[in-house]
Amino acid sequence: MIAPGLLVPRSRGEAVRQELLESGRLRADLEIRHEGNYLVLPLVEGDEPVPGAWGELVERDFGAVPRRGPVRYRDLLDWPDAEKDSLPRSFDVIGDIVLVRLPPDVEARQHEVGEALLRFVPGARLVGLDRGVQGADRIRHVERIAGSGPFRTRHRENGLELDVDLERAYFSPRLAREHARVAEEVRSGERVYDLCCGVGPFALTIARLGRASRITAVDANPEAILLLRATLARYPFGAHVAAVPATVEAFAPNAEPVERVVMNLPREGIKYLPSVARTAAPGGRLYYYEVVPRSELPGRGTLLVTSLSPVGTFTVVDEHMVHPYSPSSDLVAFTLERSR
Ligand SMILES: C[S@@+](CC[C@H](N)C(=O)[O-])C[C@H]1O[C@@H](n2cnc3c(N)ncnc32)[C@H](O)[C@@H]1O
Repeated sequence: MIAPGLLVPRSRGEAVRQELLESGRLRADLEIRHEGNYLVLPLVEGDEPVPGAWGELVERDFGAVPRRGPVRYRDLLDWPDAEKDSLPRSFDVIGDIVLVRLPPDVEARQHEVGEALLRFVPGARLVGLDRGVQGADRIRHVERIAGSGPFRTRHRENGLELDVDLERAYFSPRLAREHARVAEEVRSGERVYDLCCGVGPFALTIARLGRASRITAVDANPEAILLLRATLARYPFGAHVAAVPATVEAFAPNAEPVERVVMNLPREGIKYLPSVARTAAPGGRLYYYEVVPRSELPGRGTLLVTSLSPVGTFTVVDEHMVHPYSPSSDLVAFTLERSR
C-alpha cells in the first residue's frame, strides 16, 4: 500500500528505526523497504513531524508484514461463527492493559474473550472489561476478565511514557493525534493552560517539544494530578509544567490570560466556556472539545463564538471530528481564535 516513509542512509537506518519505534512513529504493519544504500521506514500518519535531520520524507508502495498466528483475536475462540461475529472487532491497548467493551449476551463468557485477547495482543498483562466513564472525574469503570496485576501502567504515545491508572483517573488512547496536533501549534515562548488535564497528555506533549515558556495543567481530580507529577518527575522538561489540583471554576476567574488554552471536558465544558475563554489572550487560541449531536453540528461553531461575544471576538479557525462518540453524536474539536 502507498504510505508515507522516511528515506534514511543504511548506515543510520538502525538508529533512526529505534527512534521512530520509541516515539510511536514506526508503522509496524508495513515492511521496511531496502533501496541500495538507503532504507525507507514506514511512518505512522498524522503524528508530529519527524525531525528533518533524521531523513527525507517520501511516499512508497510498502508490502504488509506477514502476521504469524491468527489475524483476529476471535479466531482464538472455539465458538460457532455466529457467536464470534457478535464480538467487537476493536479494543484499546493502554500500556500493557487491553480494554474491551462486550455486548451483554457474551458477558457470561467474558473470561474466554479475555484469555483470547491476552494471547493475541503482544505484551498484554491484563484484560479489563470497559464499562464506560462515569461521574465528574470521568473515571472508567473497569473489571478484570483475564491476566493479573493493577490497572496502573505506563502508556507510550508521541514519544512519551505516561503514568496511567485506569481506576483512579481518566485516560483515553484515542486522543494521541489531538495531543500532538495542539502541541505542534504552540510557538516559542508561549504560555499554555491545560484545563481538565487528566494525567496531562496535552501538557506533557507540549512540554516535550520544548517551545512553551510555561504550562499550567489543572484538574479537579487530585489522583490525576499525582499521576501527572509522577510522569513529570521522569523527564527533564517536567520543570516547565505546574500541575495544579483545582476546579476550572476556581482557577479560571483569577488566571492571567495566556496564548494557548486547552479545555477537554466534552460533556460539561460548555458551562465553563465563557470564564475559560476569558483566559485566552487577544491573538491567542482556545482548543475546546465537545460532544455534539450530529444533527446540531452545522452552525455549532457559530453558536459558540456568538455566545462568547460578551467576552471577546472569537473566530472558528478549525473544526473537526475526533471520533464518533455514540450512534448519533461525535467528539468534535473546535479551535477558537481570539482577535480582541
Ligand atoms: C475527558 S477528561 C480529559 C483528560 C485529558 N485532557 C486528556 O486528554 O486525556 C476530563 C477531565 O476533567 C476533569 N474535570 C471534571 N470536572 C472538572 C472541573 N470542574 N474542573 C477541573 N477538572 C475537571 C476530570 O477529572 C477529568 O480528568
